[in-house]
Amino acid sequence: MTHPTIEFHDLHPTPADFAAEVLAGLRRRPRYIPPKFFYDARGSQLFDAITALPEYYLTRAEVEVLAANAAEIARRVGTGSLLVEPGGGSCAKVRILLEGLRPCAYVPMDISREHLRAAAEQVAAEFPWLEVHASCADFTRAMTLPETAPEPEGPRVAFFPGSSIGNFDPEGAVGFLAAVAELVGPGGFLLIGADRKKDKAILDAAYDDAAGVTAAFNLNLLERMNRELGADFDLAAWRHRAFYNEAQGRIEMHLVSLRPQTVRVAGESFTFDAGETIHTENSYKYGIEEFQALAARAGFEPAAVWSDARGLFAVHLLRT
Ligand code: TRP
Repeated sequence: MTHPTIEFHDLHPTPADFAAEVLAGLRRRPRYIPPKFFYDARGSQLFDAITALPEYYLTRAEVEVLAANAAEIARRVGTGSLLVEPGGGSCAKVRILLEGLRPCAYVPMDISREHLRAAAEQVAAEFPWLEVHASCADFTRAMTLPETAPEPEGPRVAFFPGSSIGNFDPEGAVGFLAAVAELVGPGGFLLIGADRKKDKAILDAAYDDAAGVTAAFNLNLLERMNRELGADFDLAAWRHRAFYNEAQGRIEMHLVSLRPQTVRVAGESFTFDAGETIHTENSYKYGIEEFQALAARAGFEPAAVWSDARGLFAVHLLRT
């Protein structure tokens, strides 16, 4: 068997980046740690487990939409594109599109190095005709194509599934979308999944599952700080909390301090009251027109939108 070859570009954040952003976030009130740090090797595994949970409908709904409309997506976008996937760490959903789209190259970008490398090699093995240029980078900081990426005959197409757009606040989402618009350029497309507003009970359950996998995912951030920053978080003194904030249209995820405590992180002491939280994630939910209006502010116009049979999740095709 020939070993599949991929181009691999490494702009992985350094331990100093992690320390600096964590310390800045813990000094703030309310305290906040950016969600991108969830995705170390263990966090990426836990996240893959979340996507299979009965309560976490997002992945199944999105896969249903992509599978049902893959031919239509290919017809609208055309072949020979350069397909870029920021945050495409496990390269799972793109497989649904590859045969129809027949892009000239696929560029997954992700912050989780080994996860990305393994997934990119697997895609290259499964689709031997496809050029794969994996780029290990924090796309919230810099969104540039690797220099080796070819100039496509077709359009540049960005793929941003998973409702990851909801993990930015709306202003940040507009900034990110504007960077994508610039990346794909005139005539370019963005295919993006955005979870819809819906009943609070469905949303609350999706982010606080009965098996406790989402809790483990959230708490892994504390374990990661213990491992990588020499922190001394007592895992038993913290709890996962997630709920839909209807006024803000977002899921909020927090780590709650169960008692008054002082924790050392990278040589600095932080004191927490009982009940005080570290805010670790938001997941904004968007109505279809609401999302199209947001994208318009970044220079995109709607080309098509599809939903699953239950109307839970939307996949938008946008063009510049
Ligand atoms: N973007 C997805 C969402 O908002 C996935 C996700 C990001 C997530 N962070 C999460 C899911 C934390 C569960 C818990 O749903």
